[in-house]
Amino acid sequence: MKNILVTGGAGYIGSHAVVELLDSGYNVIVLDNLENGFLDLVDKRAKFYKGDIRDIESFEGVFVDNKVDAIMNFAGYIKVGESVVEPNKYYLNNTYGVMNIIQVMKKYNVKNIVFSSTAAVYGDVECEGLVYEDYPTNPINPYGASKLMAERVIIDASKAHGINYSIFRYFNVGGAHEKYQIGQKGEGVTALIPIILQTAKGEREELSIYGNNYPTEDGTGIRDYIHVVDLVKAHVSALPVLNKDISGIYNLGNGTGFSVLEMLSSAKKVTGKDIKFKFVDRRAGDPASVVASSKKAEEVLGWKPEYTDVDRIISSAWNWYKKL
Ligand SMILES: NC(=O)c1ccc[n+]([C@@H]2O[C@H](COP(=O)([O-])OP(=O)(O)OC[C@H]3O[C@@H](n4cnc5c(N)ncnc54)[C@H](O)[C@@H]3O)[C@@H](O)[C@H]2O)c1
Repeated sequence: MKNILVTGGAGYIGSHAVVELLDSGYNVIVLDNLENGFLDLVDKRAKFYKGDIRDIESFEGVFVDNKVDAIMNFAGYIKVGESVVEPNKYYLNNTYGVMNIIQVMKKYNVKNIVFSSTAAVYGDVECEGLVYEDYPTNPINPYGASKLMAERVIIDASKAHGINYSIFRYFNVGGAHEKYQIGQKGEGVTALIPIILQTAKGEREELSIYGNNYPTEDGTGIRDYIHVVDLVKAHVSALPVLNKDISGIYNLGNGTGFSVLEMLSSAKKVTGKDIKFKFVDRRAGDPASVVASSKKAEEVLGWKPEYTDVDRIISSAWNWYKKL
């Protein structure tokens, strides 16, 4: 296993996967349509192709030019709210795009795929403890559904064509690379950490906190935040496991929950800024607490998150973001 194709490698998570793969000795090929990606996030050691996973003709050349041993697919749309108003857009990219990848894998005899899925496949989590991989899947928006369908496409292809897969269900991803100058950018980011940091930087007036009457210690919602470098390291750890023909679905989180107010207080400490906020009504379908068990990834892949301190996650993001 030597040559890895990273689709969506010019995006936030994909660009981090590229540098971790390169630093681990793999040859990396990047495919991205640059719709939401940035060429300056792509490490120069990688070979770049512009193409779109919705259009096989636009990217088949990658497989003609290169012997690809495994694909890591990060290409896709990521905005839950947008998926509700434009569901077809999400199924076309996140599900049909993956069907195209499988089609080409079959044609060029590529046997391994690592896929970015999401905790959104679980839907409304009502669970006191940690969320394990066998928690029932019941997505409540087209984004989660498009990813769950893609998971199914991959699992069926595995049964039919002997393709090995690692499917990763990410919880909340944050932070930036401390060694390479890469991090999250792009319009309309909807994740909590960038929104808090935009407020700290003065780009937003205040932070809206949805609900302060949840049955949690401080009344705000609790989520699991995983550092992007830890996340992509799990993907790198998956490659030797795939090489042994071991497939699996794995949650990726930190295993510890933080409330919105705890995240805010950490961000105030890290940035030294007073970050204004207001409480607003709960959003429909937002559970009180969602925290992952990543035990399976730890046991099967021999992986462990290193950024367990939320201050470090936020400070890495801030050091990148304040320079943008
Ligand atoms: N960011 C998170 O917190 C999070 C959480 C759960 C799952 N994920 C999943 O991780 C993956 C990467 O997310 P991200 O945050 O890096 O998003 P991102 O938007 O930064 O990156 C996606 C990349 O894919 C490219 N792309 C999109 N559609 C494409 C297509 N049809 N053909 C080729 N390239 C295309 C974009 O240009 C972009 O560079 C997504 O699939 C997302 O669903 C992300």
